[in-house]
Amino acid sequence: MNILLLGAGGREHALAWKMAQSPLCECLYVMPGNAGTAQVAENVAINPNDFTKVGEFCLAKGIDLLVVGPEEPLVKGIRDYFKTQATLQHIGFIGPSAQGATLEGSKDFAKQFMQKYGIPTAAYRTFDHNSLAEAQAYIAQHSLPIVLKADGLAAGKGVVILNDYAEAQAILQEMIVAQKFGQAGAKVVIEEFLSGIELSVFVLTDGENYQILPEAKDYKRIGEGDTGLNTGGMGAVSPVPFADSTFLQKVESQIIQPTMQGLKSEGIDYQGFIFFGLINVAGEPWVIEYNARMGDPETEVVIPRIESDLVALFAATAARKLQDFELKISPQTATTIMLVSGGYPEDYEKNKPMSGFENLQEVIPFHAGTSLNTDNQVVTSGGRVIALTALGNNLTEALQKSQQAAEAIQFDKKYYRRDIGFDLQK
Ligand code: AMP
Ligand code: GLY
Repeated sequence: MNILLLGAGGREHALAWKMAQSPLCECLYVMPGNAGTAQVAENVAINPNDFTKVGEFCLAKGIDLLVVGPEEPLVKGIRDYFKTQATLQHIGFIGPSAQGATLEGSKDFAKQFMQKYGIPTAAYRTFDHNSLAEAQAYIAQHSLPIVLKADGLAAGKGVVILNDYAEAQAILQEMIVAQKFGQAGAKVVIEEFLSGIELSVFVLTDGENYQILPEAKDYKRIGEGDTGLNTGGMGAVSPVPFADSTFLQKVESQIIQPTMQGLKSEGIDYQGFIFFGLINVAGEPWVIEYNARMGDPETEVVIPRIESDLVALFAATAARKLQDFELKISPQTATTIMLVSGGYPEDYEKNKPMSGFENLQEVIPFHAGTSLNTDNQVVTSGGRVIALTALGNNLTEALQKSQQAAEAIQFDKKYYRRDIGFDLQK
């Protein structure tokens, strides 16, 4: 099969790394990719949001399967574009329609969906500029802390948790009146705060059937001990020790199955990943959010634990034959530590030459924000630079390897968290 993967992060390097190992994979292209994907595939300098150009490329290269990494092209309707073009319809597609991706693209839609189908989620109400006074009154009588969420995509910055009424009122004004998040914040979801430990569960569905992939926990805060600003993710582990079979059974019956049923009832034909952002509240799973894609850096620990052929898994998904697929998962623990550019998630410098790759042992380096400069040297090109994934017989063993690798890779102003997994170690 000729395969095109859209995206440029660590998630895409992990997906490309795994697909490239498949005997079913003939030519693999990543659009636009990074210095890591260039080692296992051919990078293509086209913007994934330019659907016409993506379609032309697919025809020119005889692409059989298209896998979408990030949410933006999905929310903008790339699947709908492919399914309505006579020349592109035949291409197998991993990623939902714009309507399906609304589970991620609109928090208000996701909350309504969960409420309608009885899926456990925090109590909420949605407001816009027409109901500003009601929103102010709702905040005034709400218990603290209070969670404010911009309805639309806000690059991971649209959620604010407040312990003070005046601050909550000010953020509400910023979102709805001053339009701090543009259109994404035109509607605001105000919800109850849930206290517990978070984890992510991933499902791949062909529209009828689904397979549950390994669960993972990511570390979103920049600082050790889960302090400081939110980031895209500073590291991840899989499996998650507290997600035992009893807990995962609850996730399947109370969350995954009603979600599948809900999609069907709404007439949403969903082929692709569903990322369930969950929180464990006293042993019960609640949904914090849905995403219409895999997580990053969760993918960097989930994919290395999948022993089955990923291209065969995707082909079965596109052919709606997932029920026959035997998914093999490694019992090992995978950990990843993300090296980031100093200053991230605020301003940071780019183009720092990277070294030390030759000293890596027993680790898979998944490039996130890297590129090749004119001298063919790997340089930093983003906030999150590289995810260092290791497998081990337990969490301690895997973490030791990831930590050694985090020391071995060098670049100016490198930063990483030394405490990934700290809350899960016995
Ligand atoms: P989201 O963009 O919806 O994933 O929210 C970002 C982060 O905010 C989540 O990963 C949680 O850590 C936190 N969060 C969101 N909603 C809630 C909630 N209702 N209660 C507690 N924490 C929340
Ligand atoms: N790591 C969280 C996400 O991908 O949204």
